[in-house]
Amino acid sequence: MKLQEEINKRKTFGIISHPDAGKTTLTEKLLLFGGAIQTAGAVKNNKITKSATSDFMEIEKQRGISVATSVMGFEYKGKLINLLDTPGHKDFAEDTYRTLTAVDSVILVIDCVKGVETQTEKLMEVCRMRNTPVIVYINKMDLDGQDPFDLLDELEEKLDINVRPLSWPISIGPTFKGVYNLVDKNVNLFSSNKTKIERDVVTISDLSDPKLDELVGKYADQLREDVELIEGVYEPFEKKEYLEGRIAPVFFGSAVNNFGIREMLDTFIEIAPNPKAREAEGKEVMPTDENFSGFVFKIHANLDPNHRDRIAFLRVCSGTFERNKFFHHVRLDKKMRFNNPTSFMAQEKNLIEKAFPGDVIGLYDTGNFKIGDTLTEGENFMFQGIPSFSPEIFKEVVNGDPMKTKQLEKGIAQLTDEGVAQLFTQRMGNKKYIGTVGELQFEVIQYRLKHEYNATCNFHPLNFYKACWITSDKKDILDEFVRLKSNYIVNDKDENLVFLAQTRGVLQITMDNYPDIKFHFTSEMN
Ligand code: G4P
Repeated sequence: MKLQEEINKRKTFGIISHPDAGKTTLTEKLLLFGGAIQTAGAVKNNKITKSATSDFMEIEKQRGISVATSVMGFEYKGKLINLLDTPGHKDFAEDTYRTLTAVDSVILVIDCVKGVETQTEKLMEVCRMRNTPVIVYINKMDLDGQDPFDLLDELEEKLDINVRPLSWPISIGPTFKGVYNLVDKNVNLFSSNKTKIERDVVTISDLSDPKLDELVGKYADQLREDVELIEGVYEPFEKKEYLEGRIAPVFFGSAVNNFGIREMLDTFIEIAPNPKAREAEGKEVMPTDENFSGFVFKIHANLDPNHRDRIAFLRVCSGTFERNKFFHHVRLDKKMRFNNPTSFMAQEKNLIEKAFPGDVIGLYDTGNFKIGDTLTEGENFMFQGIPSFSPEIFKEVVNGDPMKTKQLEKGIAQLTDEGVAQLFTQRMGNKKYIGTVGELQFEVIQYRLKHEYNATCNFHPLNFYKACWITSDKKDILDEFVRLKSNYIVNDKDENLVFLAQTRGVLQITMDNYPDIKFHFTSEMN
């Protein structure tokens, strides 16, 4: 098959949500629709539960499960869909941000009772940075949730994106009757059904059809009013605007009851983008370029201490990846080939011979890869970096065993290459600071240093509020700033300059005092 045809068949996306909104449930139902799994309950384990926060083995076990289910491929209506899993746990938010760089669109799940939650806002910020197209699925309509119009307003206000409902709930909570499809103009009646994926669609000629009153009783008039209001307030849905990340179509449903999912999936198939062009240094790489290219967005350590190898997750961006063919590892300037690359089909890992743009493949790695690495064929270039965001918790690494300094350094370097946490090195004095978004990572680091590198370390808490990457067109001003603030200046892993601010106030004053210096809140500094 021609490359173009392979590209046209593929859609690669991620599901994001605040924990508990229903991401796992929706994922599972999508896989049921795609025939990738036969029974409900198969994906359920793929999340780090709250109770696991201090049970290392449990975390490790769950991390293990998440390798198998990190990428789930399934087919639906002739399309090959790659669903990339994103950890919902807040402490693993960085992992989610990175995964979002490897998808072409997202489905955002909102709990209709809780509305927009903190994690939702952060994740949407990341989507907006790349203008990632978003489809919203408002879940749990069988519960007494907020008024749908209020939910739409809240989405627009808190997520800074225009929305357009494409389906509309008929009542909500215990009296939830179903949804009206605003595009096909038919009614899908709700039946509480957790295992089957059939649906009960009733076509009505138009909203004035008396059949509607028979079907939903007193809620028919409310629906008529609502639809009139929607058509009056919201502009018609334009696919182009969705693809540019300017408008998000909204669907209502109940994931656990398999409800409202098919409507969304059918629309997704129609409108979601195929693998897109990607920015590399100074150029756009088209998926149709005959030469293969791809980048690593996730690295997963092997949990078996006897096998130190890791799995690097590579997103194919252009051309055709082939097993055992030599490609170029750009950062190391090294030819590499892969004997046992894997694809991920739902729960299984399969050896693959070829992969195409949009696909994610697992490459066994013995320490050659770090997050953001690029593989190419022919021309050499690096894909634009995967951004790091300012950590929220900072601690200094204190060696627990001076005889094992080398092991500790290697362990810290490798774990931070994997993206478990960010490493900052003090410019004066060479102290090492670790920055994370959650406490959980410190426990994971300590545990893994001990078990995989035979090193011990302690952490001293540091009182920093934020890390800002700093740049300036005026080199002398930047040099002077670095000299004056030397105690607060560190290098990130790529030797970029980073300013550690102790408080929000200090940061504000510093920014006011140094207008010629740019303070960036992510490592993406353009
Ligand atoms: P997450 O991955 O986003 O964290 O959420 P998950 O799918 O695990 O769903 C969180 C909880 O919400 C689960 O209940 C799930 O059953 C429930 N849920 C998902 N969709 C719906 C829905 O449409 N309606 C209602 N009423 N509940 C829904 P749990 O009690 O945490 O787990 P479980 O024991 O029921 O599986």
